[in-house]
Amino acid sequence: MSTESTTITVGEGTGAGGQELGYDVVVGNGLLARLHTMIGTQAERVLVIHPRALRATGDVVREDLEKAGFQAVTAEIPDAEEGKHIQVAAFCWQVLGQNDFTRSDAVVSVGGGAVTDVAGFVAATWLRGVRVVHMPTTLLGMVDAAVGGKTGINTAEGKNLVGSFHQPAGVLADLDTLISLPRNELVAGLAEVVKCGFIADEEILKIIESAPDQAQNPHSWQLRELVERSIRVKAKVVGEDVRESGVRESLNYGHTLGHAIELAERYQWRHGAAVSVGMVFAAELARSLGRLSDAEADRHHEILTSLGLPVTYRGDRWNQLLEGIRRDKKNRGDTLRFVLLNGIGSPTTVEIPDPSILFATYQEIAEEPDTSTTISL
Ligand SMILES: NC(=O)c1ccc[n+]([C@@H]2O[C@H](COP(=O)([O-])OP(=O)(O)OC[C@H]3O[C@@H](n4cnc5c(N)ncnc54)[C@H](O)[C@@H]3O)[C@@H](O)[C@H]2O)c1
Repeated sequence: MSTESTTITVGEGTGAGGQELGYDVVVGNGLLARLHTMIGTQAERVLVIHPRALRATGDVVREDLEKAGFQAVTAEIPDAEEGKHIQVAAFCWQVLGQNDFTRSDAVVSVGGGAVTDVAGFVAATWLRGVRVVHMPTTLLGMVDAAVGGKTGINTAEGKNLVGSFHQPAGVLADLDTLISLPRNELVAGLAEVVKCGFIADEEILKIIESAPDQAQNPHSWQLRELVERSIRVKAKVVGEDVRESGVRESLNYGHTLGHAIELAERYQWRHGAAVSVGMVFAAELARSLGRLSDAEADRHHEILTSLGLPVTYRGDRWNQLLEGIRRDKKNRGDTLRFVLLNGIGSPTTVEIPDPSILFATYQEIAEEPDTSTTISL
């Protein structure tokens, strides 16, 4: 395995006020020593936000920052989605206030996508915005949540309804952190990697197809290559569309049905598992519209199955799913919109005026109702 790290720059150029718009995502092993540079020379105080499950890692980061001369404090927050609450953000604001954090100080997130989202939100809102460096510790965090500047918390009415765009000062994707990640979390993250393969980089698909086991091994060169390639895909798309008004929709591939499944399952399914089914559905829809060949559509099924991701969903839930699909943010008025492929690497947003084609397509992925509970993710 390479001991060198790889740096991927997201966005480039300078803003109207002369500020740098781009930031670096560094991928490699043992990257903690890079943190000070990303925090920059202006900050005196750093708040390290981590979940309960990563207390030891959070402490190591804090101690390292103290050795480097920063006044570092930690905020331990509840695990996973429990952390994406306004009360948790309020707790972090309290810690910032009690420790006299100024606008030149910084926040560091250590954790999965849930932590990046809430820490990013805290950083975006404290004194109207302070620097944030993300240290994602899940595969999904590395290839998706930490890159692109979307931050958010959940409300009683739904997930990610409150948030802002706040670009990080940098991202450190340390592959060593994936060693302790439970397998189901790693596999769920691979769904987003596969998505990047289908929308933009076929080499990702080839790497997985030639060694699906190695794609799940945090020590393998294959996983590192997949992380780097997926980050490049996301970096390119978000660099072109910082505030999600156009091409960024392609990152939504598989997410329309995926989000509807998550909602129907009351968020008890991993996001990646739902997106996996959503991609197979999108592939079937594209096949029936003549946009994908049989081989290309079947490839979705095969690659996702080889990773142990689900490709079917309960046949008795269509009406509920359609309700979820109607809530999708891509829709315009009553017209439903899906990201579909015109061949591998060519995503486009397609309007579906007649939902009956969706129901017909759904039959391709629908299970018998009584086999629906056999899911391991
Ligand atoms: N902002 C964005 O662009 C964006 C994109 C995708 C997803 N998200 C958000 O990301 C969240 C999901 O992220 P996730 O899948 O990383 O889940 P997560 O953050 O909930 O983490 C999953 C679980 O793994 C644990 N964990 C994290 N790192 C670990 C490690 N190295 N070793 C052992 N355990 C570890 C966590 O404590 C948690 O229990 C969702 O809230 C979603 O909305 C945001």
